[in-house]
Amino acid sequence: MADTDDIQQAKYYHHDVPQTNATFALKGAGSLDWGMQNRLARVFRPSSGRTVMLAIDHGYFLGPTTGLERPDVDIVPLLGEIDALFCTRGILRSVIPAASAVPVVLRASGGPSILRELSNEEIAVDMEDALRLNTCGVGVQLFVGTENESKTIHNMTRLVDAGLRYGVPVLGVTAVGKDMVRDARYFRLATRIAAELGAQMVKTYYVDEGFETITAACPVPIVMAGGKKLPELEALTMAHRAVQQGAAGVDMGRNIFQSEAPLAMLKAVNATVHDNLPPAQALELFETLRHAQA
Ligand code: 5RP
Repeated sequence: MADTDDIQQAKYYHHDVPQTNATFALKGAGSLDWGMQNRLARVFRPSSGRTVMLAIDHGYFLGPTTGLERPDVDIVPLLGEIDALFCTRGILRSVIPAASAVPVVLRASGGPSILRELSNEEIAVDMEDALRLNTCGVGVQLFVGTENESKTIHNMTRLVDAGLRYGVPVLGVTAVGKDMVRDARYFRLATRIAAELGAQMVKTYYVDEGFETITAACPVPIVMAGGKKLPELEALTMAHRAVQQGAAGVDMGRNIFQSEAPLAMLKAVNATVHDNLPPAQALELFETLRHAQA
């Protein structure tokens, strides 16, 4: 027979409330293990399901490219405005403050410099080191359609296996060979291959026609790559269209750090990605912030 205390405390057991165990509502993430969902929930803002990732990994094949000559001076002040940072372990250890709370996706492939055949990449980071660095993901280039297609896809699948072992998601980055057509058909192929072979997130370029078919056919979140520097209105328009057409955010580099006012640009991109601000208003925001900072 239950004693009086038990009866009085029964309300604390909430017998009438079924237990919940919510998965992170990100495309394709429902069956992933807790650690991997937790890392993805740090990269993709749970309130919008989208991310503004800042890509500063360019030095791994380009050296000190314009805007990244001194990441300590020019990039560190931007960290408070981003959802995640895509960088190499060299820059992470030497420049990014360890006390910074910014989630990191680590560039994990590399090898050739801009002077050689870029598709000839290898895995460049051990998963153990990615864990040591407390990263939320690793990124690897896929050169679909090039002579090194299989090799780079195999780089990715090895990282996917290691990532699944430890709960670290993999970002498959669909690189394009110099002479290849950048259209929806190509990116549908490349992004779908990345997801089919295990990438938990995919980075790809925007295309004017049929981008929504790329995001629809890819069973995991797609983040839009920025590409070469464009006038701010064009870059904001591209980011706006990408998220309206199903992208789960952006992973942009040059269009932010090569902007005349990177912090203002980041805030405008944030408003576009997370608040659906239309391009003309996002540009207005950029101009206002740029003048306020000047
Ligand atoms: C190339 C890469 C990058 O090195 C980088 O992330 C590109 O950023 P952006 O094109 O926006 O400057 O992944 O595919």
